[in-house]
Amino acid sequence: MRRPIFAANWKMHKTASEAVAFAKAFLPLLKANDRDAEVVLAPAFPALHALGQALEGSRVTLAAQNIHPEAQGAFTGEVSATMLCDAHCRYVIVGHSERRQIFGETNAFIAQKVAAAFTNDLIPILCVGESLSERDTGRTFDVLAQQLAESVALVPKARAHELVIAYEPVWAIGTGKTATPEIAQEAHAFLRQECEKHFGSAAKSLRIQYGGSVKPDNAAALQNKPDIDGALVGGASLDPESFAKIVNAK
Ligand code: PGA
Repeated sequence: MRRPIFAANWKMHKTASEAVAFAKAFLPLLKANDRDAEVVLAPAFPALHALGQALEGSRVTLAAQNIHPEAQGAFTGEVSATMLCDAHCRYVIVGHSERRQIFGETNAFIAQKVAAAFTNDLIPILCVGESLSERDTGRTFDVLAQQLAESVALVPKARAHELVIAYEPVWAIGTGKTATPEIAQEAHAFLRQECEKHFGSAAKSLRIQYGGSVKPDNAAALQNKPDIDGALVGGASLDPESFAKIVNAK
């Protein structure tokens, strides 16, 4: 059985005090549901420390939104895996479409980030997803296969079962247009099949989240699909009640 994982990607939102206020409101809303979902919050770097303290003793863990592959050095503005571990992060989001599109990140660079995370006991949440024009021209599966193959090239085989993949169709991010549960399931099943080519049986254990306009009212239908193991949530994760509803959705 795969344990579903729900992660809040706050992007460039919330100061440290806003993040702490979120935690205070959010933690009491978490139900111990029978699927025992894992819950992760990914604030901006300056809020990691205070949020980590506010989450102490809870089952909610921290993720960072970015990582640099090098351990240290002259990389102004960047943050290393060691620094993220020191800030008590357990996960790190890698390859988000905003990083690919706005900051020009390539699959090869993303692969190095994934490797750096594993080397330091951080678990990468690797985002992949096709654009609208790629879907409209029938290239979805080719794009997903290539993004995956090139981004997981340096994953140590023995750790592959820990990898988290987020399928995030770019056309569904922040647009209010969620993929239907059927469209999402089809992509998730495809990604799991591709993972089997790369990792063998670990593909059955690794979790694939869906991301892209997940809201309280569509979360349950998505989670009922066999290959969907939680969600990566942007906009709807900024409000404690709405994110709690998503996490508690059945
Ligand atoms: P959204 O963002 O939920 O606001 O669509 C998801 C994401 O970018 O991870």
